[in-house]
Amino acid sequence: MRMIRKIRGACTKTSVESERIAGNAQTLFGHAGAETDALGSLRSMYQQGSSRELRARMLANDFLSGAPMDILEIGAGFGDLSVYFSTLYPQHRYVINDLAEAKFERYFDIVKEYFKVTREFQCIPFAVESIPFPNDSFDRIFIRAAVHHFDEPDRAFSEMRRVLRSGGKLVFFQDPIALDIPIVSRIQKFFAGSEEKAMGFNEHVYQVAEYMSFGCSFSDRQCKTDPFFLREIDKQSKNWSGVKRRVLAVIRSHPYLFRQFLIRQYGIPFYFVFTK
Ligand SMILES: C[S@@+](CC[C@H](N)C(=O)[O-])C[C@H]1O[C@@H](n2cnc3c(N)ncnc32)[C@H](O)[C@@H]1O
Repeated sequence: MRMIRKIRGACTKTSVESERIAGNAQTLFGHAGAETDALGSLRSMYQQGSSRELRARMLANDFLSGAPMDILEIGAGFGDLSVYFSTLYPQHRYVINDLAEAKFERYFDIVKEYFKVTREFQCIPFAVESIPFPNDSFDRIFIRAAVHHFDEPDRAFSEMRRVLRSGGKLVFFQDPIALDIPIVSRIQKFFAGSEEKAMGFNEHVYQVAEYMSFGCSFSDRQCKTDPFFLREIDKQSKNWSGVKRRVLAVIRSHPYLFRQFLIRQYGIPFYFVFTK
């Protein structure tokens, strides 16, 4: 049974039985441990030019410009991405989800205070495998660093497709990627997030092809290289010796090699865009 109620006049939430995972034991930003300085974390993560801020701004500009839309963020942690989006594109309605209700309760006011945002948001805890919205409810769905935690990714993606409108887009990013080399990816999968696994959380590392396969019922699926990492490579390689730079040029001209290089170097170098 769902129960909707208001908290602190800022956020509407729903209590659902799916809140079974002890998300409260995760930090604001996801992993095992206790968050001690929420405002400090926000300050360092969103300082001008930080990867988190740059990436969020790039995605907002690519996917949020234009007429008012309905936006859903899944596995939002404490909701900073949507609140930041709302400062750039305030015309939209933002619905913010996480499995763990406790995250909203503890941190959402701090996030709003940090971004100086006073508007209301709908914050709704539920498991993405069963989304409590009718078909065709949203124009955009964003997920940052949460797909690799899902219990049942196939079911989750089918639910997200259901609640998207035709032509709507699902954008997910900052999920760890395994190399396309079978034995190595098996080792990566085995060791991924052992601390989290020990605490009972779902923790996976998927190959690009596996992430793509979750969206097989979407009409279009794309895996794009995060421009932030391309800029990083350009910046770093300026100081490299001639030989090292030539090797990089060879790797860069070969799509398969370059993909493995990016995965090896950065772990989360891609974002995915699926269109219904
Ligand atoms: C690594 S955290 C990322 C949090 C936030 N997106 C960020 O980037 O800071 C993963 C989040 O996904 C949430 N999550 C895991 N499985 C989920 C599910 N099945 N449905 C909804 N949220 C889920 C967790 O509670 C956690 O807050």
